[in-house]
Amino acid sequence: MSFQDLQTRFDAHVLPTYARYPVAFIRGQGCRLYDVEGKEYIDFASGIGVCSVGHAHPRWVAAIAEQAGRLAHVSNLYYSEPGMVLAERLCALSGMSGAFFANSGAEANEGAIKAARKYSSDKYGVGRAVVVTLEGSFHGRTLATLSATGQAQFHRHFHPLPAGFQHVPPGDIAAIRQLDGSVCAVMLEPVQGEGGVLPLDPEYVRQVEALCRERDWVFIADEVQTGIGRTGHWFAHQAMGVAPDIVTFAKGIAGGLPLGGFLVSEKLRGALGPGDHATTFGGTPLCCAAALATLDILAEALPAVAEKGALIRARVEGMGLPQVAGTRGMGLMIGIKLVGAAPRDWNAKLLAAGLVSLTAGSDALRFLPPLVIGEQDIEAGLTIFENTLRVNTIDN
Ligand SMILES: Cc1ncc(COP(=O)(O)O)c(C=O)c1O
Repeated sequence: MSFQDLQTRFDAHVLPTYARYPVAFIRGQGCRLYDVEGKEYIDFASGIGVCSVGHAHPRWVAAIAEQAGRLAHVSNLYYSEPGMVLAERLCALSGMSGAFFANSGAEANEGAIKAARKYSSDKYGVGRAVVVTLEGSFHGRTLATLSATGQAQFHRHFHPLPAGFQHVPPGDIAAIRQLDGSVCAVMLEPVQGEGGVLPLDPEYVRQVEALCRERDWVFIADEVQTGIGRTGHWFAHQAMGVAPDIVTFAKGIAGGLPLGGFLVSEKLRGALGPGDHATTFGGTPLCCAAALATLDILAEALPAVAEKGALIRARVEGMGLPQVAGTRGMGLMIGIKLVGAAPRDWNAKLLAAGLVSLTAGSDALRFLPPLVIGEQDIEAGLTIFENTLRVNTIDN
């Protein structure tokens, strides 16, 4: 089928909620993708940070095939082994005490918000339910996580949004300190992803943690994008020297299958009980088996993630491109600050040239390559990047 035929049939019945680029991928292998017309691309996007072990990794494929052939789903009315092992593994990697499995990042954050409110209402009664989040943050597209998201452009058209969220400027601890007794939690991304790949100052994150301890607020790290090795640590908060009460995760956990969830510390262990929270698909044996294979593969890749990220940033900065004002990020979560034209225009040009990348915020391109990416694919991707920016100009 030609791309044009596919696009016409797709658009005839799939709602146009995404501003899609004119490409249809049909196959992936390692860090390369292939479109319907057979063209090859270097993948610096990983399906927005999801395909952390690249595409069709043989161990990941085998684990899924094995589990699919045995038992894909039974519901959470029963016990199952892959979820048991995955919870053990995630608690060991994070130092947390318990896990809840969901299907997406937004759902992970919804659950975290519910756990925080339940902890607070059990202990202090009603009237203490506000979750503080940061301006520029992104926490998801469900109504509550949209309300938590500190970017007004996502709120348009969807009012009234659920109450109980307060946005404060990042880095301003006084803005949180002055809040009153209606607060129950603070939720933040260690590196704001969708907002522009903006790492928070670790000192500020430690101050937030200390304030949460002082007031018995629940400290939630949204690690949907930063978690599971993306920043060179299993979780980015570990590099900042803090211990959240709740850590949410999704995206890269199962290497491409839908899985998310949250981890709680000992303090929050008893917050949710039977009937308080549930989801039909959460933690299916199939997705948990994929996650276990992903974690095995990432355990080998993790030690090199920081170095690869540093290499990419140094190479981009060393190109001396007039359109690039600098780089930022952590590990293989990389933002490239652009001057002039909109990032989406450059992203489209890169895609046409064979490099799949992303945008972040209003001024940056974003690279989230598979964490297993090798030197050859990094070089191939950077060559496309450099050549594309050198020969093209895009007017403001
Ligand atoms: C930090 C963060 N939280 C939550 C979400 C929402 O995740 P999902 O799209 O899986 O619902 C995202 C998605 O980009 C994210 O980056």
